[in-house]
Amino acid sequence: MSTVYTRIGQLVTWDDEQPIRTDAALVVEGGRVAWVGDTQNAPAADERVDVAGAAVIPGFVDAHTHLVFDGDRSGEFEARMAGRAYTAGGIRATVARTRVADEARLESLVAARMAELHAQGTTTVEVKSGYALEVAGEELSLRIARRHTPETTYLGAHVVPEGQDADAYLTTVTGPMLQACAPHARWIDVFCERGAFDADQARVVLAAGRAAGLEPRLHANQLGFGPGVQLACEIGAAAADHCTYLTDDDVDALAQTGVAAGLLPGVEFSTRHPYPDARRLLDAGVRVALATDFNPGTSATSSMPFCIALAVRELGMTCAEALFAATQGGAWSLRRSDVGHLRIGARADLVVLNAPSHVHLAYRPGVPLVRHVARGAMSGE
Ligand code: NIG
Ligand code: FE
Repeated sequence: MSTVYTRIGQLVTWDDEQPIRTDAALVVEGGRVAWVGDTQNAPAADERVDVAGAAVIPGFVDAHTHLVFDGDRSGEFEARMAGRAYTAGGIRATVARTRVADEARLESLVAARMAELHAQGTTTVEVKSGYALEVAGEELSLRIARRHTPETTYLGAHVVPEGQDADAYLTTVTGPMLQACAPHARWIDVFCERGAFDADQARVVLAAGRAAGLEPRLHANQLGFGPGVQLACEIGAAAADHCTYLTDDDVDALAQTGVAAGLLPGVEFSTRHPYPDARRLLDAGVRVALATDFNPGTSATSSMPFCIALAVRELGMTCAEALFAATQGGAWSLRRSDVGHLRIGARADLVVLNAPSHVHLAYRPGVPLVRHVARGAMSGE
């Protein structure tokens, strides 16, 4: 089965020679991009889709979400907007709700959230556990997540559960909980932050994960300066996410190691914290990824277009840089070469916009600009 998309007003492929083309066509065959060129040279295919001047972009790669949870924390958000500060302790409220949800309920919540992401143009999603914080619940969270994406992350080390001793809990996280979760996870993550886990604790958790075959990524430098980014660079993690408070040494370490810096502006929007400085990272040559951090506490959005608008308006990115970070940047963060771009051979995950240019994603914030989402080869899923 082959499909040719014609009269693409603006086609974003991220090809080295011509990353953005006009009046283009693209052929999909067997779920992969098979041909890219001018509309007038487009070959015949089984199916022809005339997009009449619309822009076509790669599907978004959201490399940071926590969407296995029950309940919401809109009351906390309301209180913050009235002046209350965010604290990581709020996570425990979601833990209480998630622990009592059964498999059928969590499955339907996750399926609905995945559909929400997809409808807004996201075609690759990383999903973390971390709202059960007990062996069976973390295993269940990852087992459910794994039905929807290969990019699953074990986050038993989110916070120490209510009433538990940190050392005892970490023994569980690196022992029976890891054993139960590893078969369903690709990644391991730790919330390395004051009020959660320090660098030594994080190092132990990530090493145990690695020994069980999981690849490390980190929540780092979200609420204040700290050791998370340096730790990510020291151990060669795929990503250090948040990066809101960075020293010059942190920026240098990210640039030198190639660790992806995940920026999650939905968090700063919803916590009133200062936004991370994407300009500083990009100018230093850091690989930047943009993600939603979809979670009930700090970022209840599933919308990559919203995050792109914030990145352009508040993080100092150009429109093209923000789109690149939301696609190719996410792919870097997940160490994927088959998604995040539309070069020949890529998975044909693409979005047709209700707009002539990707610039409209930031120019028309809050407007539903996703006309059609196509997903290509399901390899690995
Ligand atoms: O990425 N930082 C840790 N985890 C989430 C917040 C979780 C919560 O507040 O429920 C985050 O922001
Ligand atoms: Fe997070």
